[in-house]
Amino acid sequence: MILFLLTTTLIIWCPGLALLLSGVEVPHATQSAASRVLSQPFAERWPYSPDDLIPQDASNDQLFYLVPKFVQHAAEESRSALTTYYDCAIPENAAVLDLCSSWTSHFPPKQFERCAVLGLNPLELLANPSKTEWTVRNLNRDPKLPYDDNEFDVVTNSLSVDYLTKPLDVFREVSRVLKPGGLAAMAFTNRMFPTKVVPVWLAPYTEDSHARIVANYFHFAGGFEDISVADVSPPGWVGLRNPMIVVAARAAAP
Ligand SMILES: C[S@@+](CC[C@H](N)C(=O)[O-])C[C@H]1O[C@@H](n2cnc3c(N)ncnc32)[C@H](O)[C@@H]1O
Repeated sequence: MILFLLTTTLIIWCPGLALLLSGVEVPHATQSAASRVLSQPFAERWPYSPDDLIPQDASNDQLFYLVPKFVQHAAEESRSALTTYYDCAIPENAAVLDLCSSWTSHFPPKQFERCAVLGLNPLELLANPSKTEWTVRNLNRDPKLPYDDNEFDVVTNSLSVDYLTKPLDVFREVSRVLKPGGLAAMAFTNRMFPTKVVPVWLAPYTEDSHARIVANYFHFAGGFEDISVADVSPPGWVGLRNPMIVVAARAAAP
């Protein structure tokens, strides 16, 4: 109890102590119910049933994303917080892969050695200013990533992890294509396409529940270590702003 109070006090008084998340210094991360979910241990077994991962609309995602959607999926201050996170997390000249990508990856205007974007709509991917290459792939039909082992320093997924119906397969692939020690960062907010999201995401619809789900994906996929949750949500009342949470982990050495 005394240790808990001491740690909590130090975190409140000395925010610098709490900022190293999966090896990334995140100065704008704050303490919240979501950032604390990892204080609870993981379950012994994979906690979801097959039905938890079948969306209401289980038809081919390529039809849903056939028409390009040149829209933003989070408010400006939340997207800006995500860009700041990526600026902290992605080193200069990194090889980066953005999964479930579109016309924006929210990356800072940095020099990348390589920026592969993979998603469903070719026109959106073509318009992505960060990309150096693009691939159309339906990860819910074919979760195998079309890249060799150890190709990337960073793999990201922005505002789309809730649409993955085979999350363990995709996360295993992410750990395969990352270099050992490479960073996987899955960012989400509270907006979504309700018919396409996996049902486990819907109830309870809270950031801490969502952070726990993504942390479970990392944990049960295997091949990851140093799982963390960064709450970089802009200030404001819940319900009046889009939160921004990043659950991240490092690829373990084989
Ligand atoms: C809410 S949008 C987010 C787009 C972008 N990542 C962002 O942050 O603005 C969802 C994205 O996930 C992608 N997506 C959805 N289902 C997918 C699937 N089965 N395989 C690959 N990408 C998928 C779509 O192409 C779409 O661009």
